[in-house]
Amino acid sequence: MAVDVARADGIATVTMNRPEALNAFTSEQLAAMLETIRSLRGDRSVRCVILTGAGARAFAAGADIKEMVDKTGDQGAAFGRLGHAVAGALEGLPQPTIAAVNGFALGGGTEVALACDIRLASENAVFAQPEVTLGILPGWGATQRLTRLVGPGLAAEIILSGRRVNADEALRIGLVNAVYPSDRLMAEALKLANQIAANSPRALAAAKRAMQLAFNGATASGLDTEARLFGESFGTADQREGMTAFIEKRPPVFTGE
Ligand code: COA
Repeated sequence: MAVDVARADGIATVTMNRPEALNAFTSEQLAAMLETIRSLRGDRSVRCVILTGAGARAFAAGADIKEMVDKTGDQGAAFGRLGHAVAGALEGLPQPTIAAVNGFALGGGTEVALACDIRLASENAVFAQPEVTLGILPGWGATQRLTRLVGPGLAAEIILSGRRVNADEALRIGLVNAVYPSDRLMAEALKLANQIAANSPRALAAAKRAMQLAFNGATASGLDTEARLFGESFGTADQREGMTAFIEKRPPVFTGE
């Protein structure tokens, strides 16, 4: 994937850049994301990170379904581990991270945003965990991070229905901190990033570490279970049917096999 990084005044803006597929994640793109995030980790000139998507339509439309459709259980598990590594690397950055969600954030798109410290959205933002409509389950952290953020009842509704959450609802349920017109989103993200970047990097990193411990034990073991179940959902009849139906632009017929 093209993952672009622009550094200015202590702020690194990372742009997921594959707009022709609404910034959907292939393995190659995930690897590029991981490399980019790791390169920011030791960069003392970067005090705050903004993550966004190229184009006006999407933050990221999730994992690449055309790549996933033929995966076996083992390959699905490896893909899940790569997604977890990206989300974990984001969450583990010492610098604060802001997701500027500028349109569709579906599946892995929502999960990558959930791994950031703060989420801001444009008015056209749309969140969802549509994995169950594809015969799999969320595999890059949503079963844990969404549940933690919005509470178990709402997370269950969102994950089990696969329905969309628009920007207004996302604001109401605490999935995002603020909603802005599309043409103001990046300016507002930069304003907040500048405010954060003026603070002590040492104190920021320490505050992040301490805040993560508020939930960490439960999240860590939950993530392991999610990763195992995500792998097991590949190579099944329902996974093949769900993803083939998406590619063929028709509704899926699931059998539970
Ligand atoms: N994986 C692979 N390709 C994807 C993709 C994904 N997750 N999301 C979008 N694309 C591709 C489409 O296949 C299409 O490419 P094509 O023109 O070669 O067929 C292109 O991006 C544009 O998407 P399209 O579906 O034509 O746009 P739309 O405006 O009709 O719908 C979405 C936009 C986001 C609603 C729709 O693309 C969608 O539902 N994407 C899948 C989201 C999803 O389930 N993600 C979770 C995966 S676990």
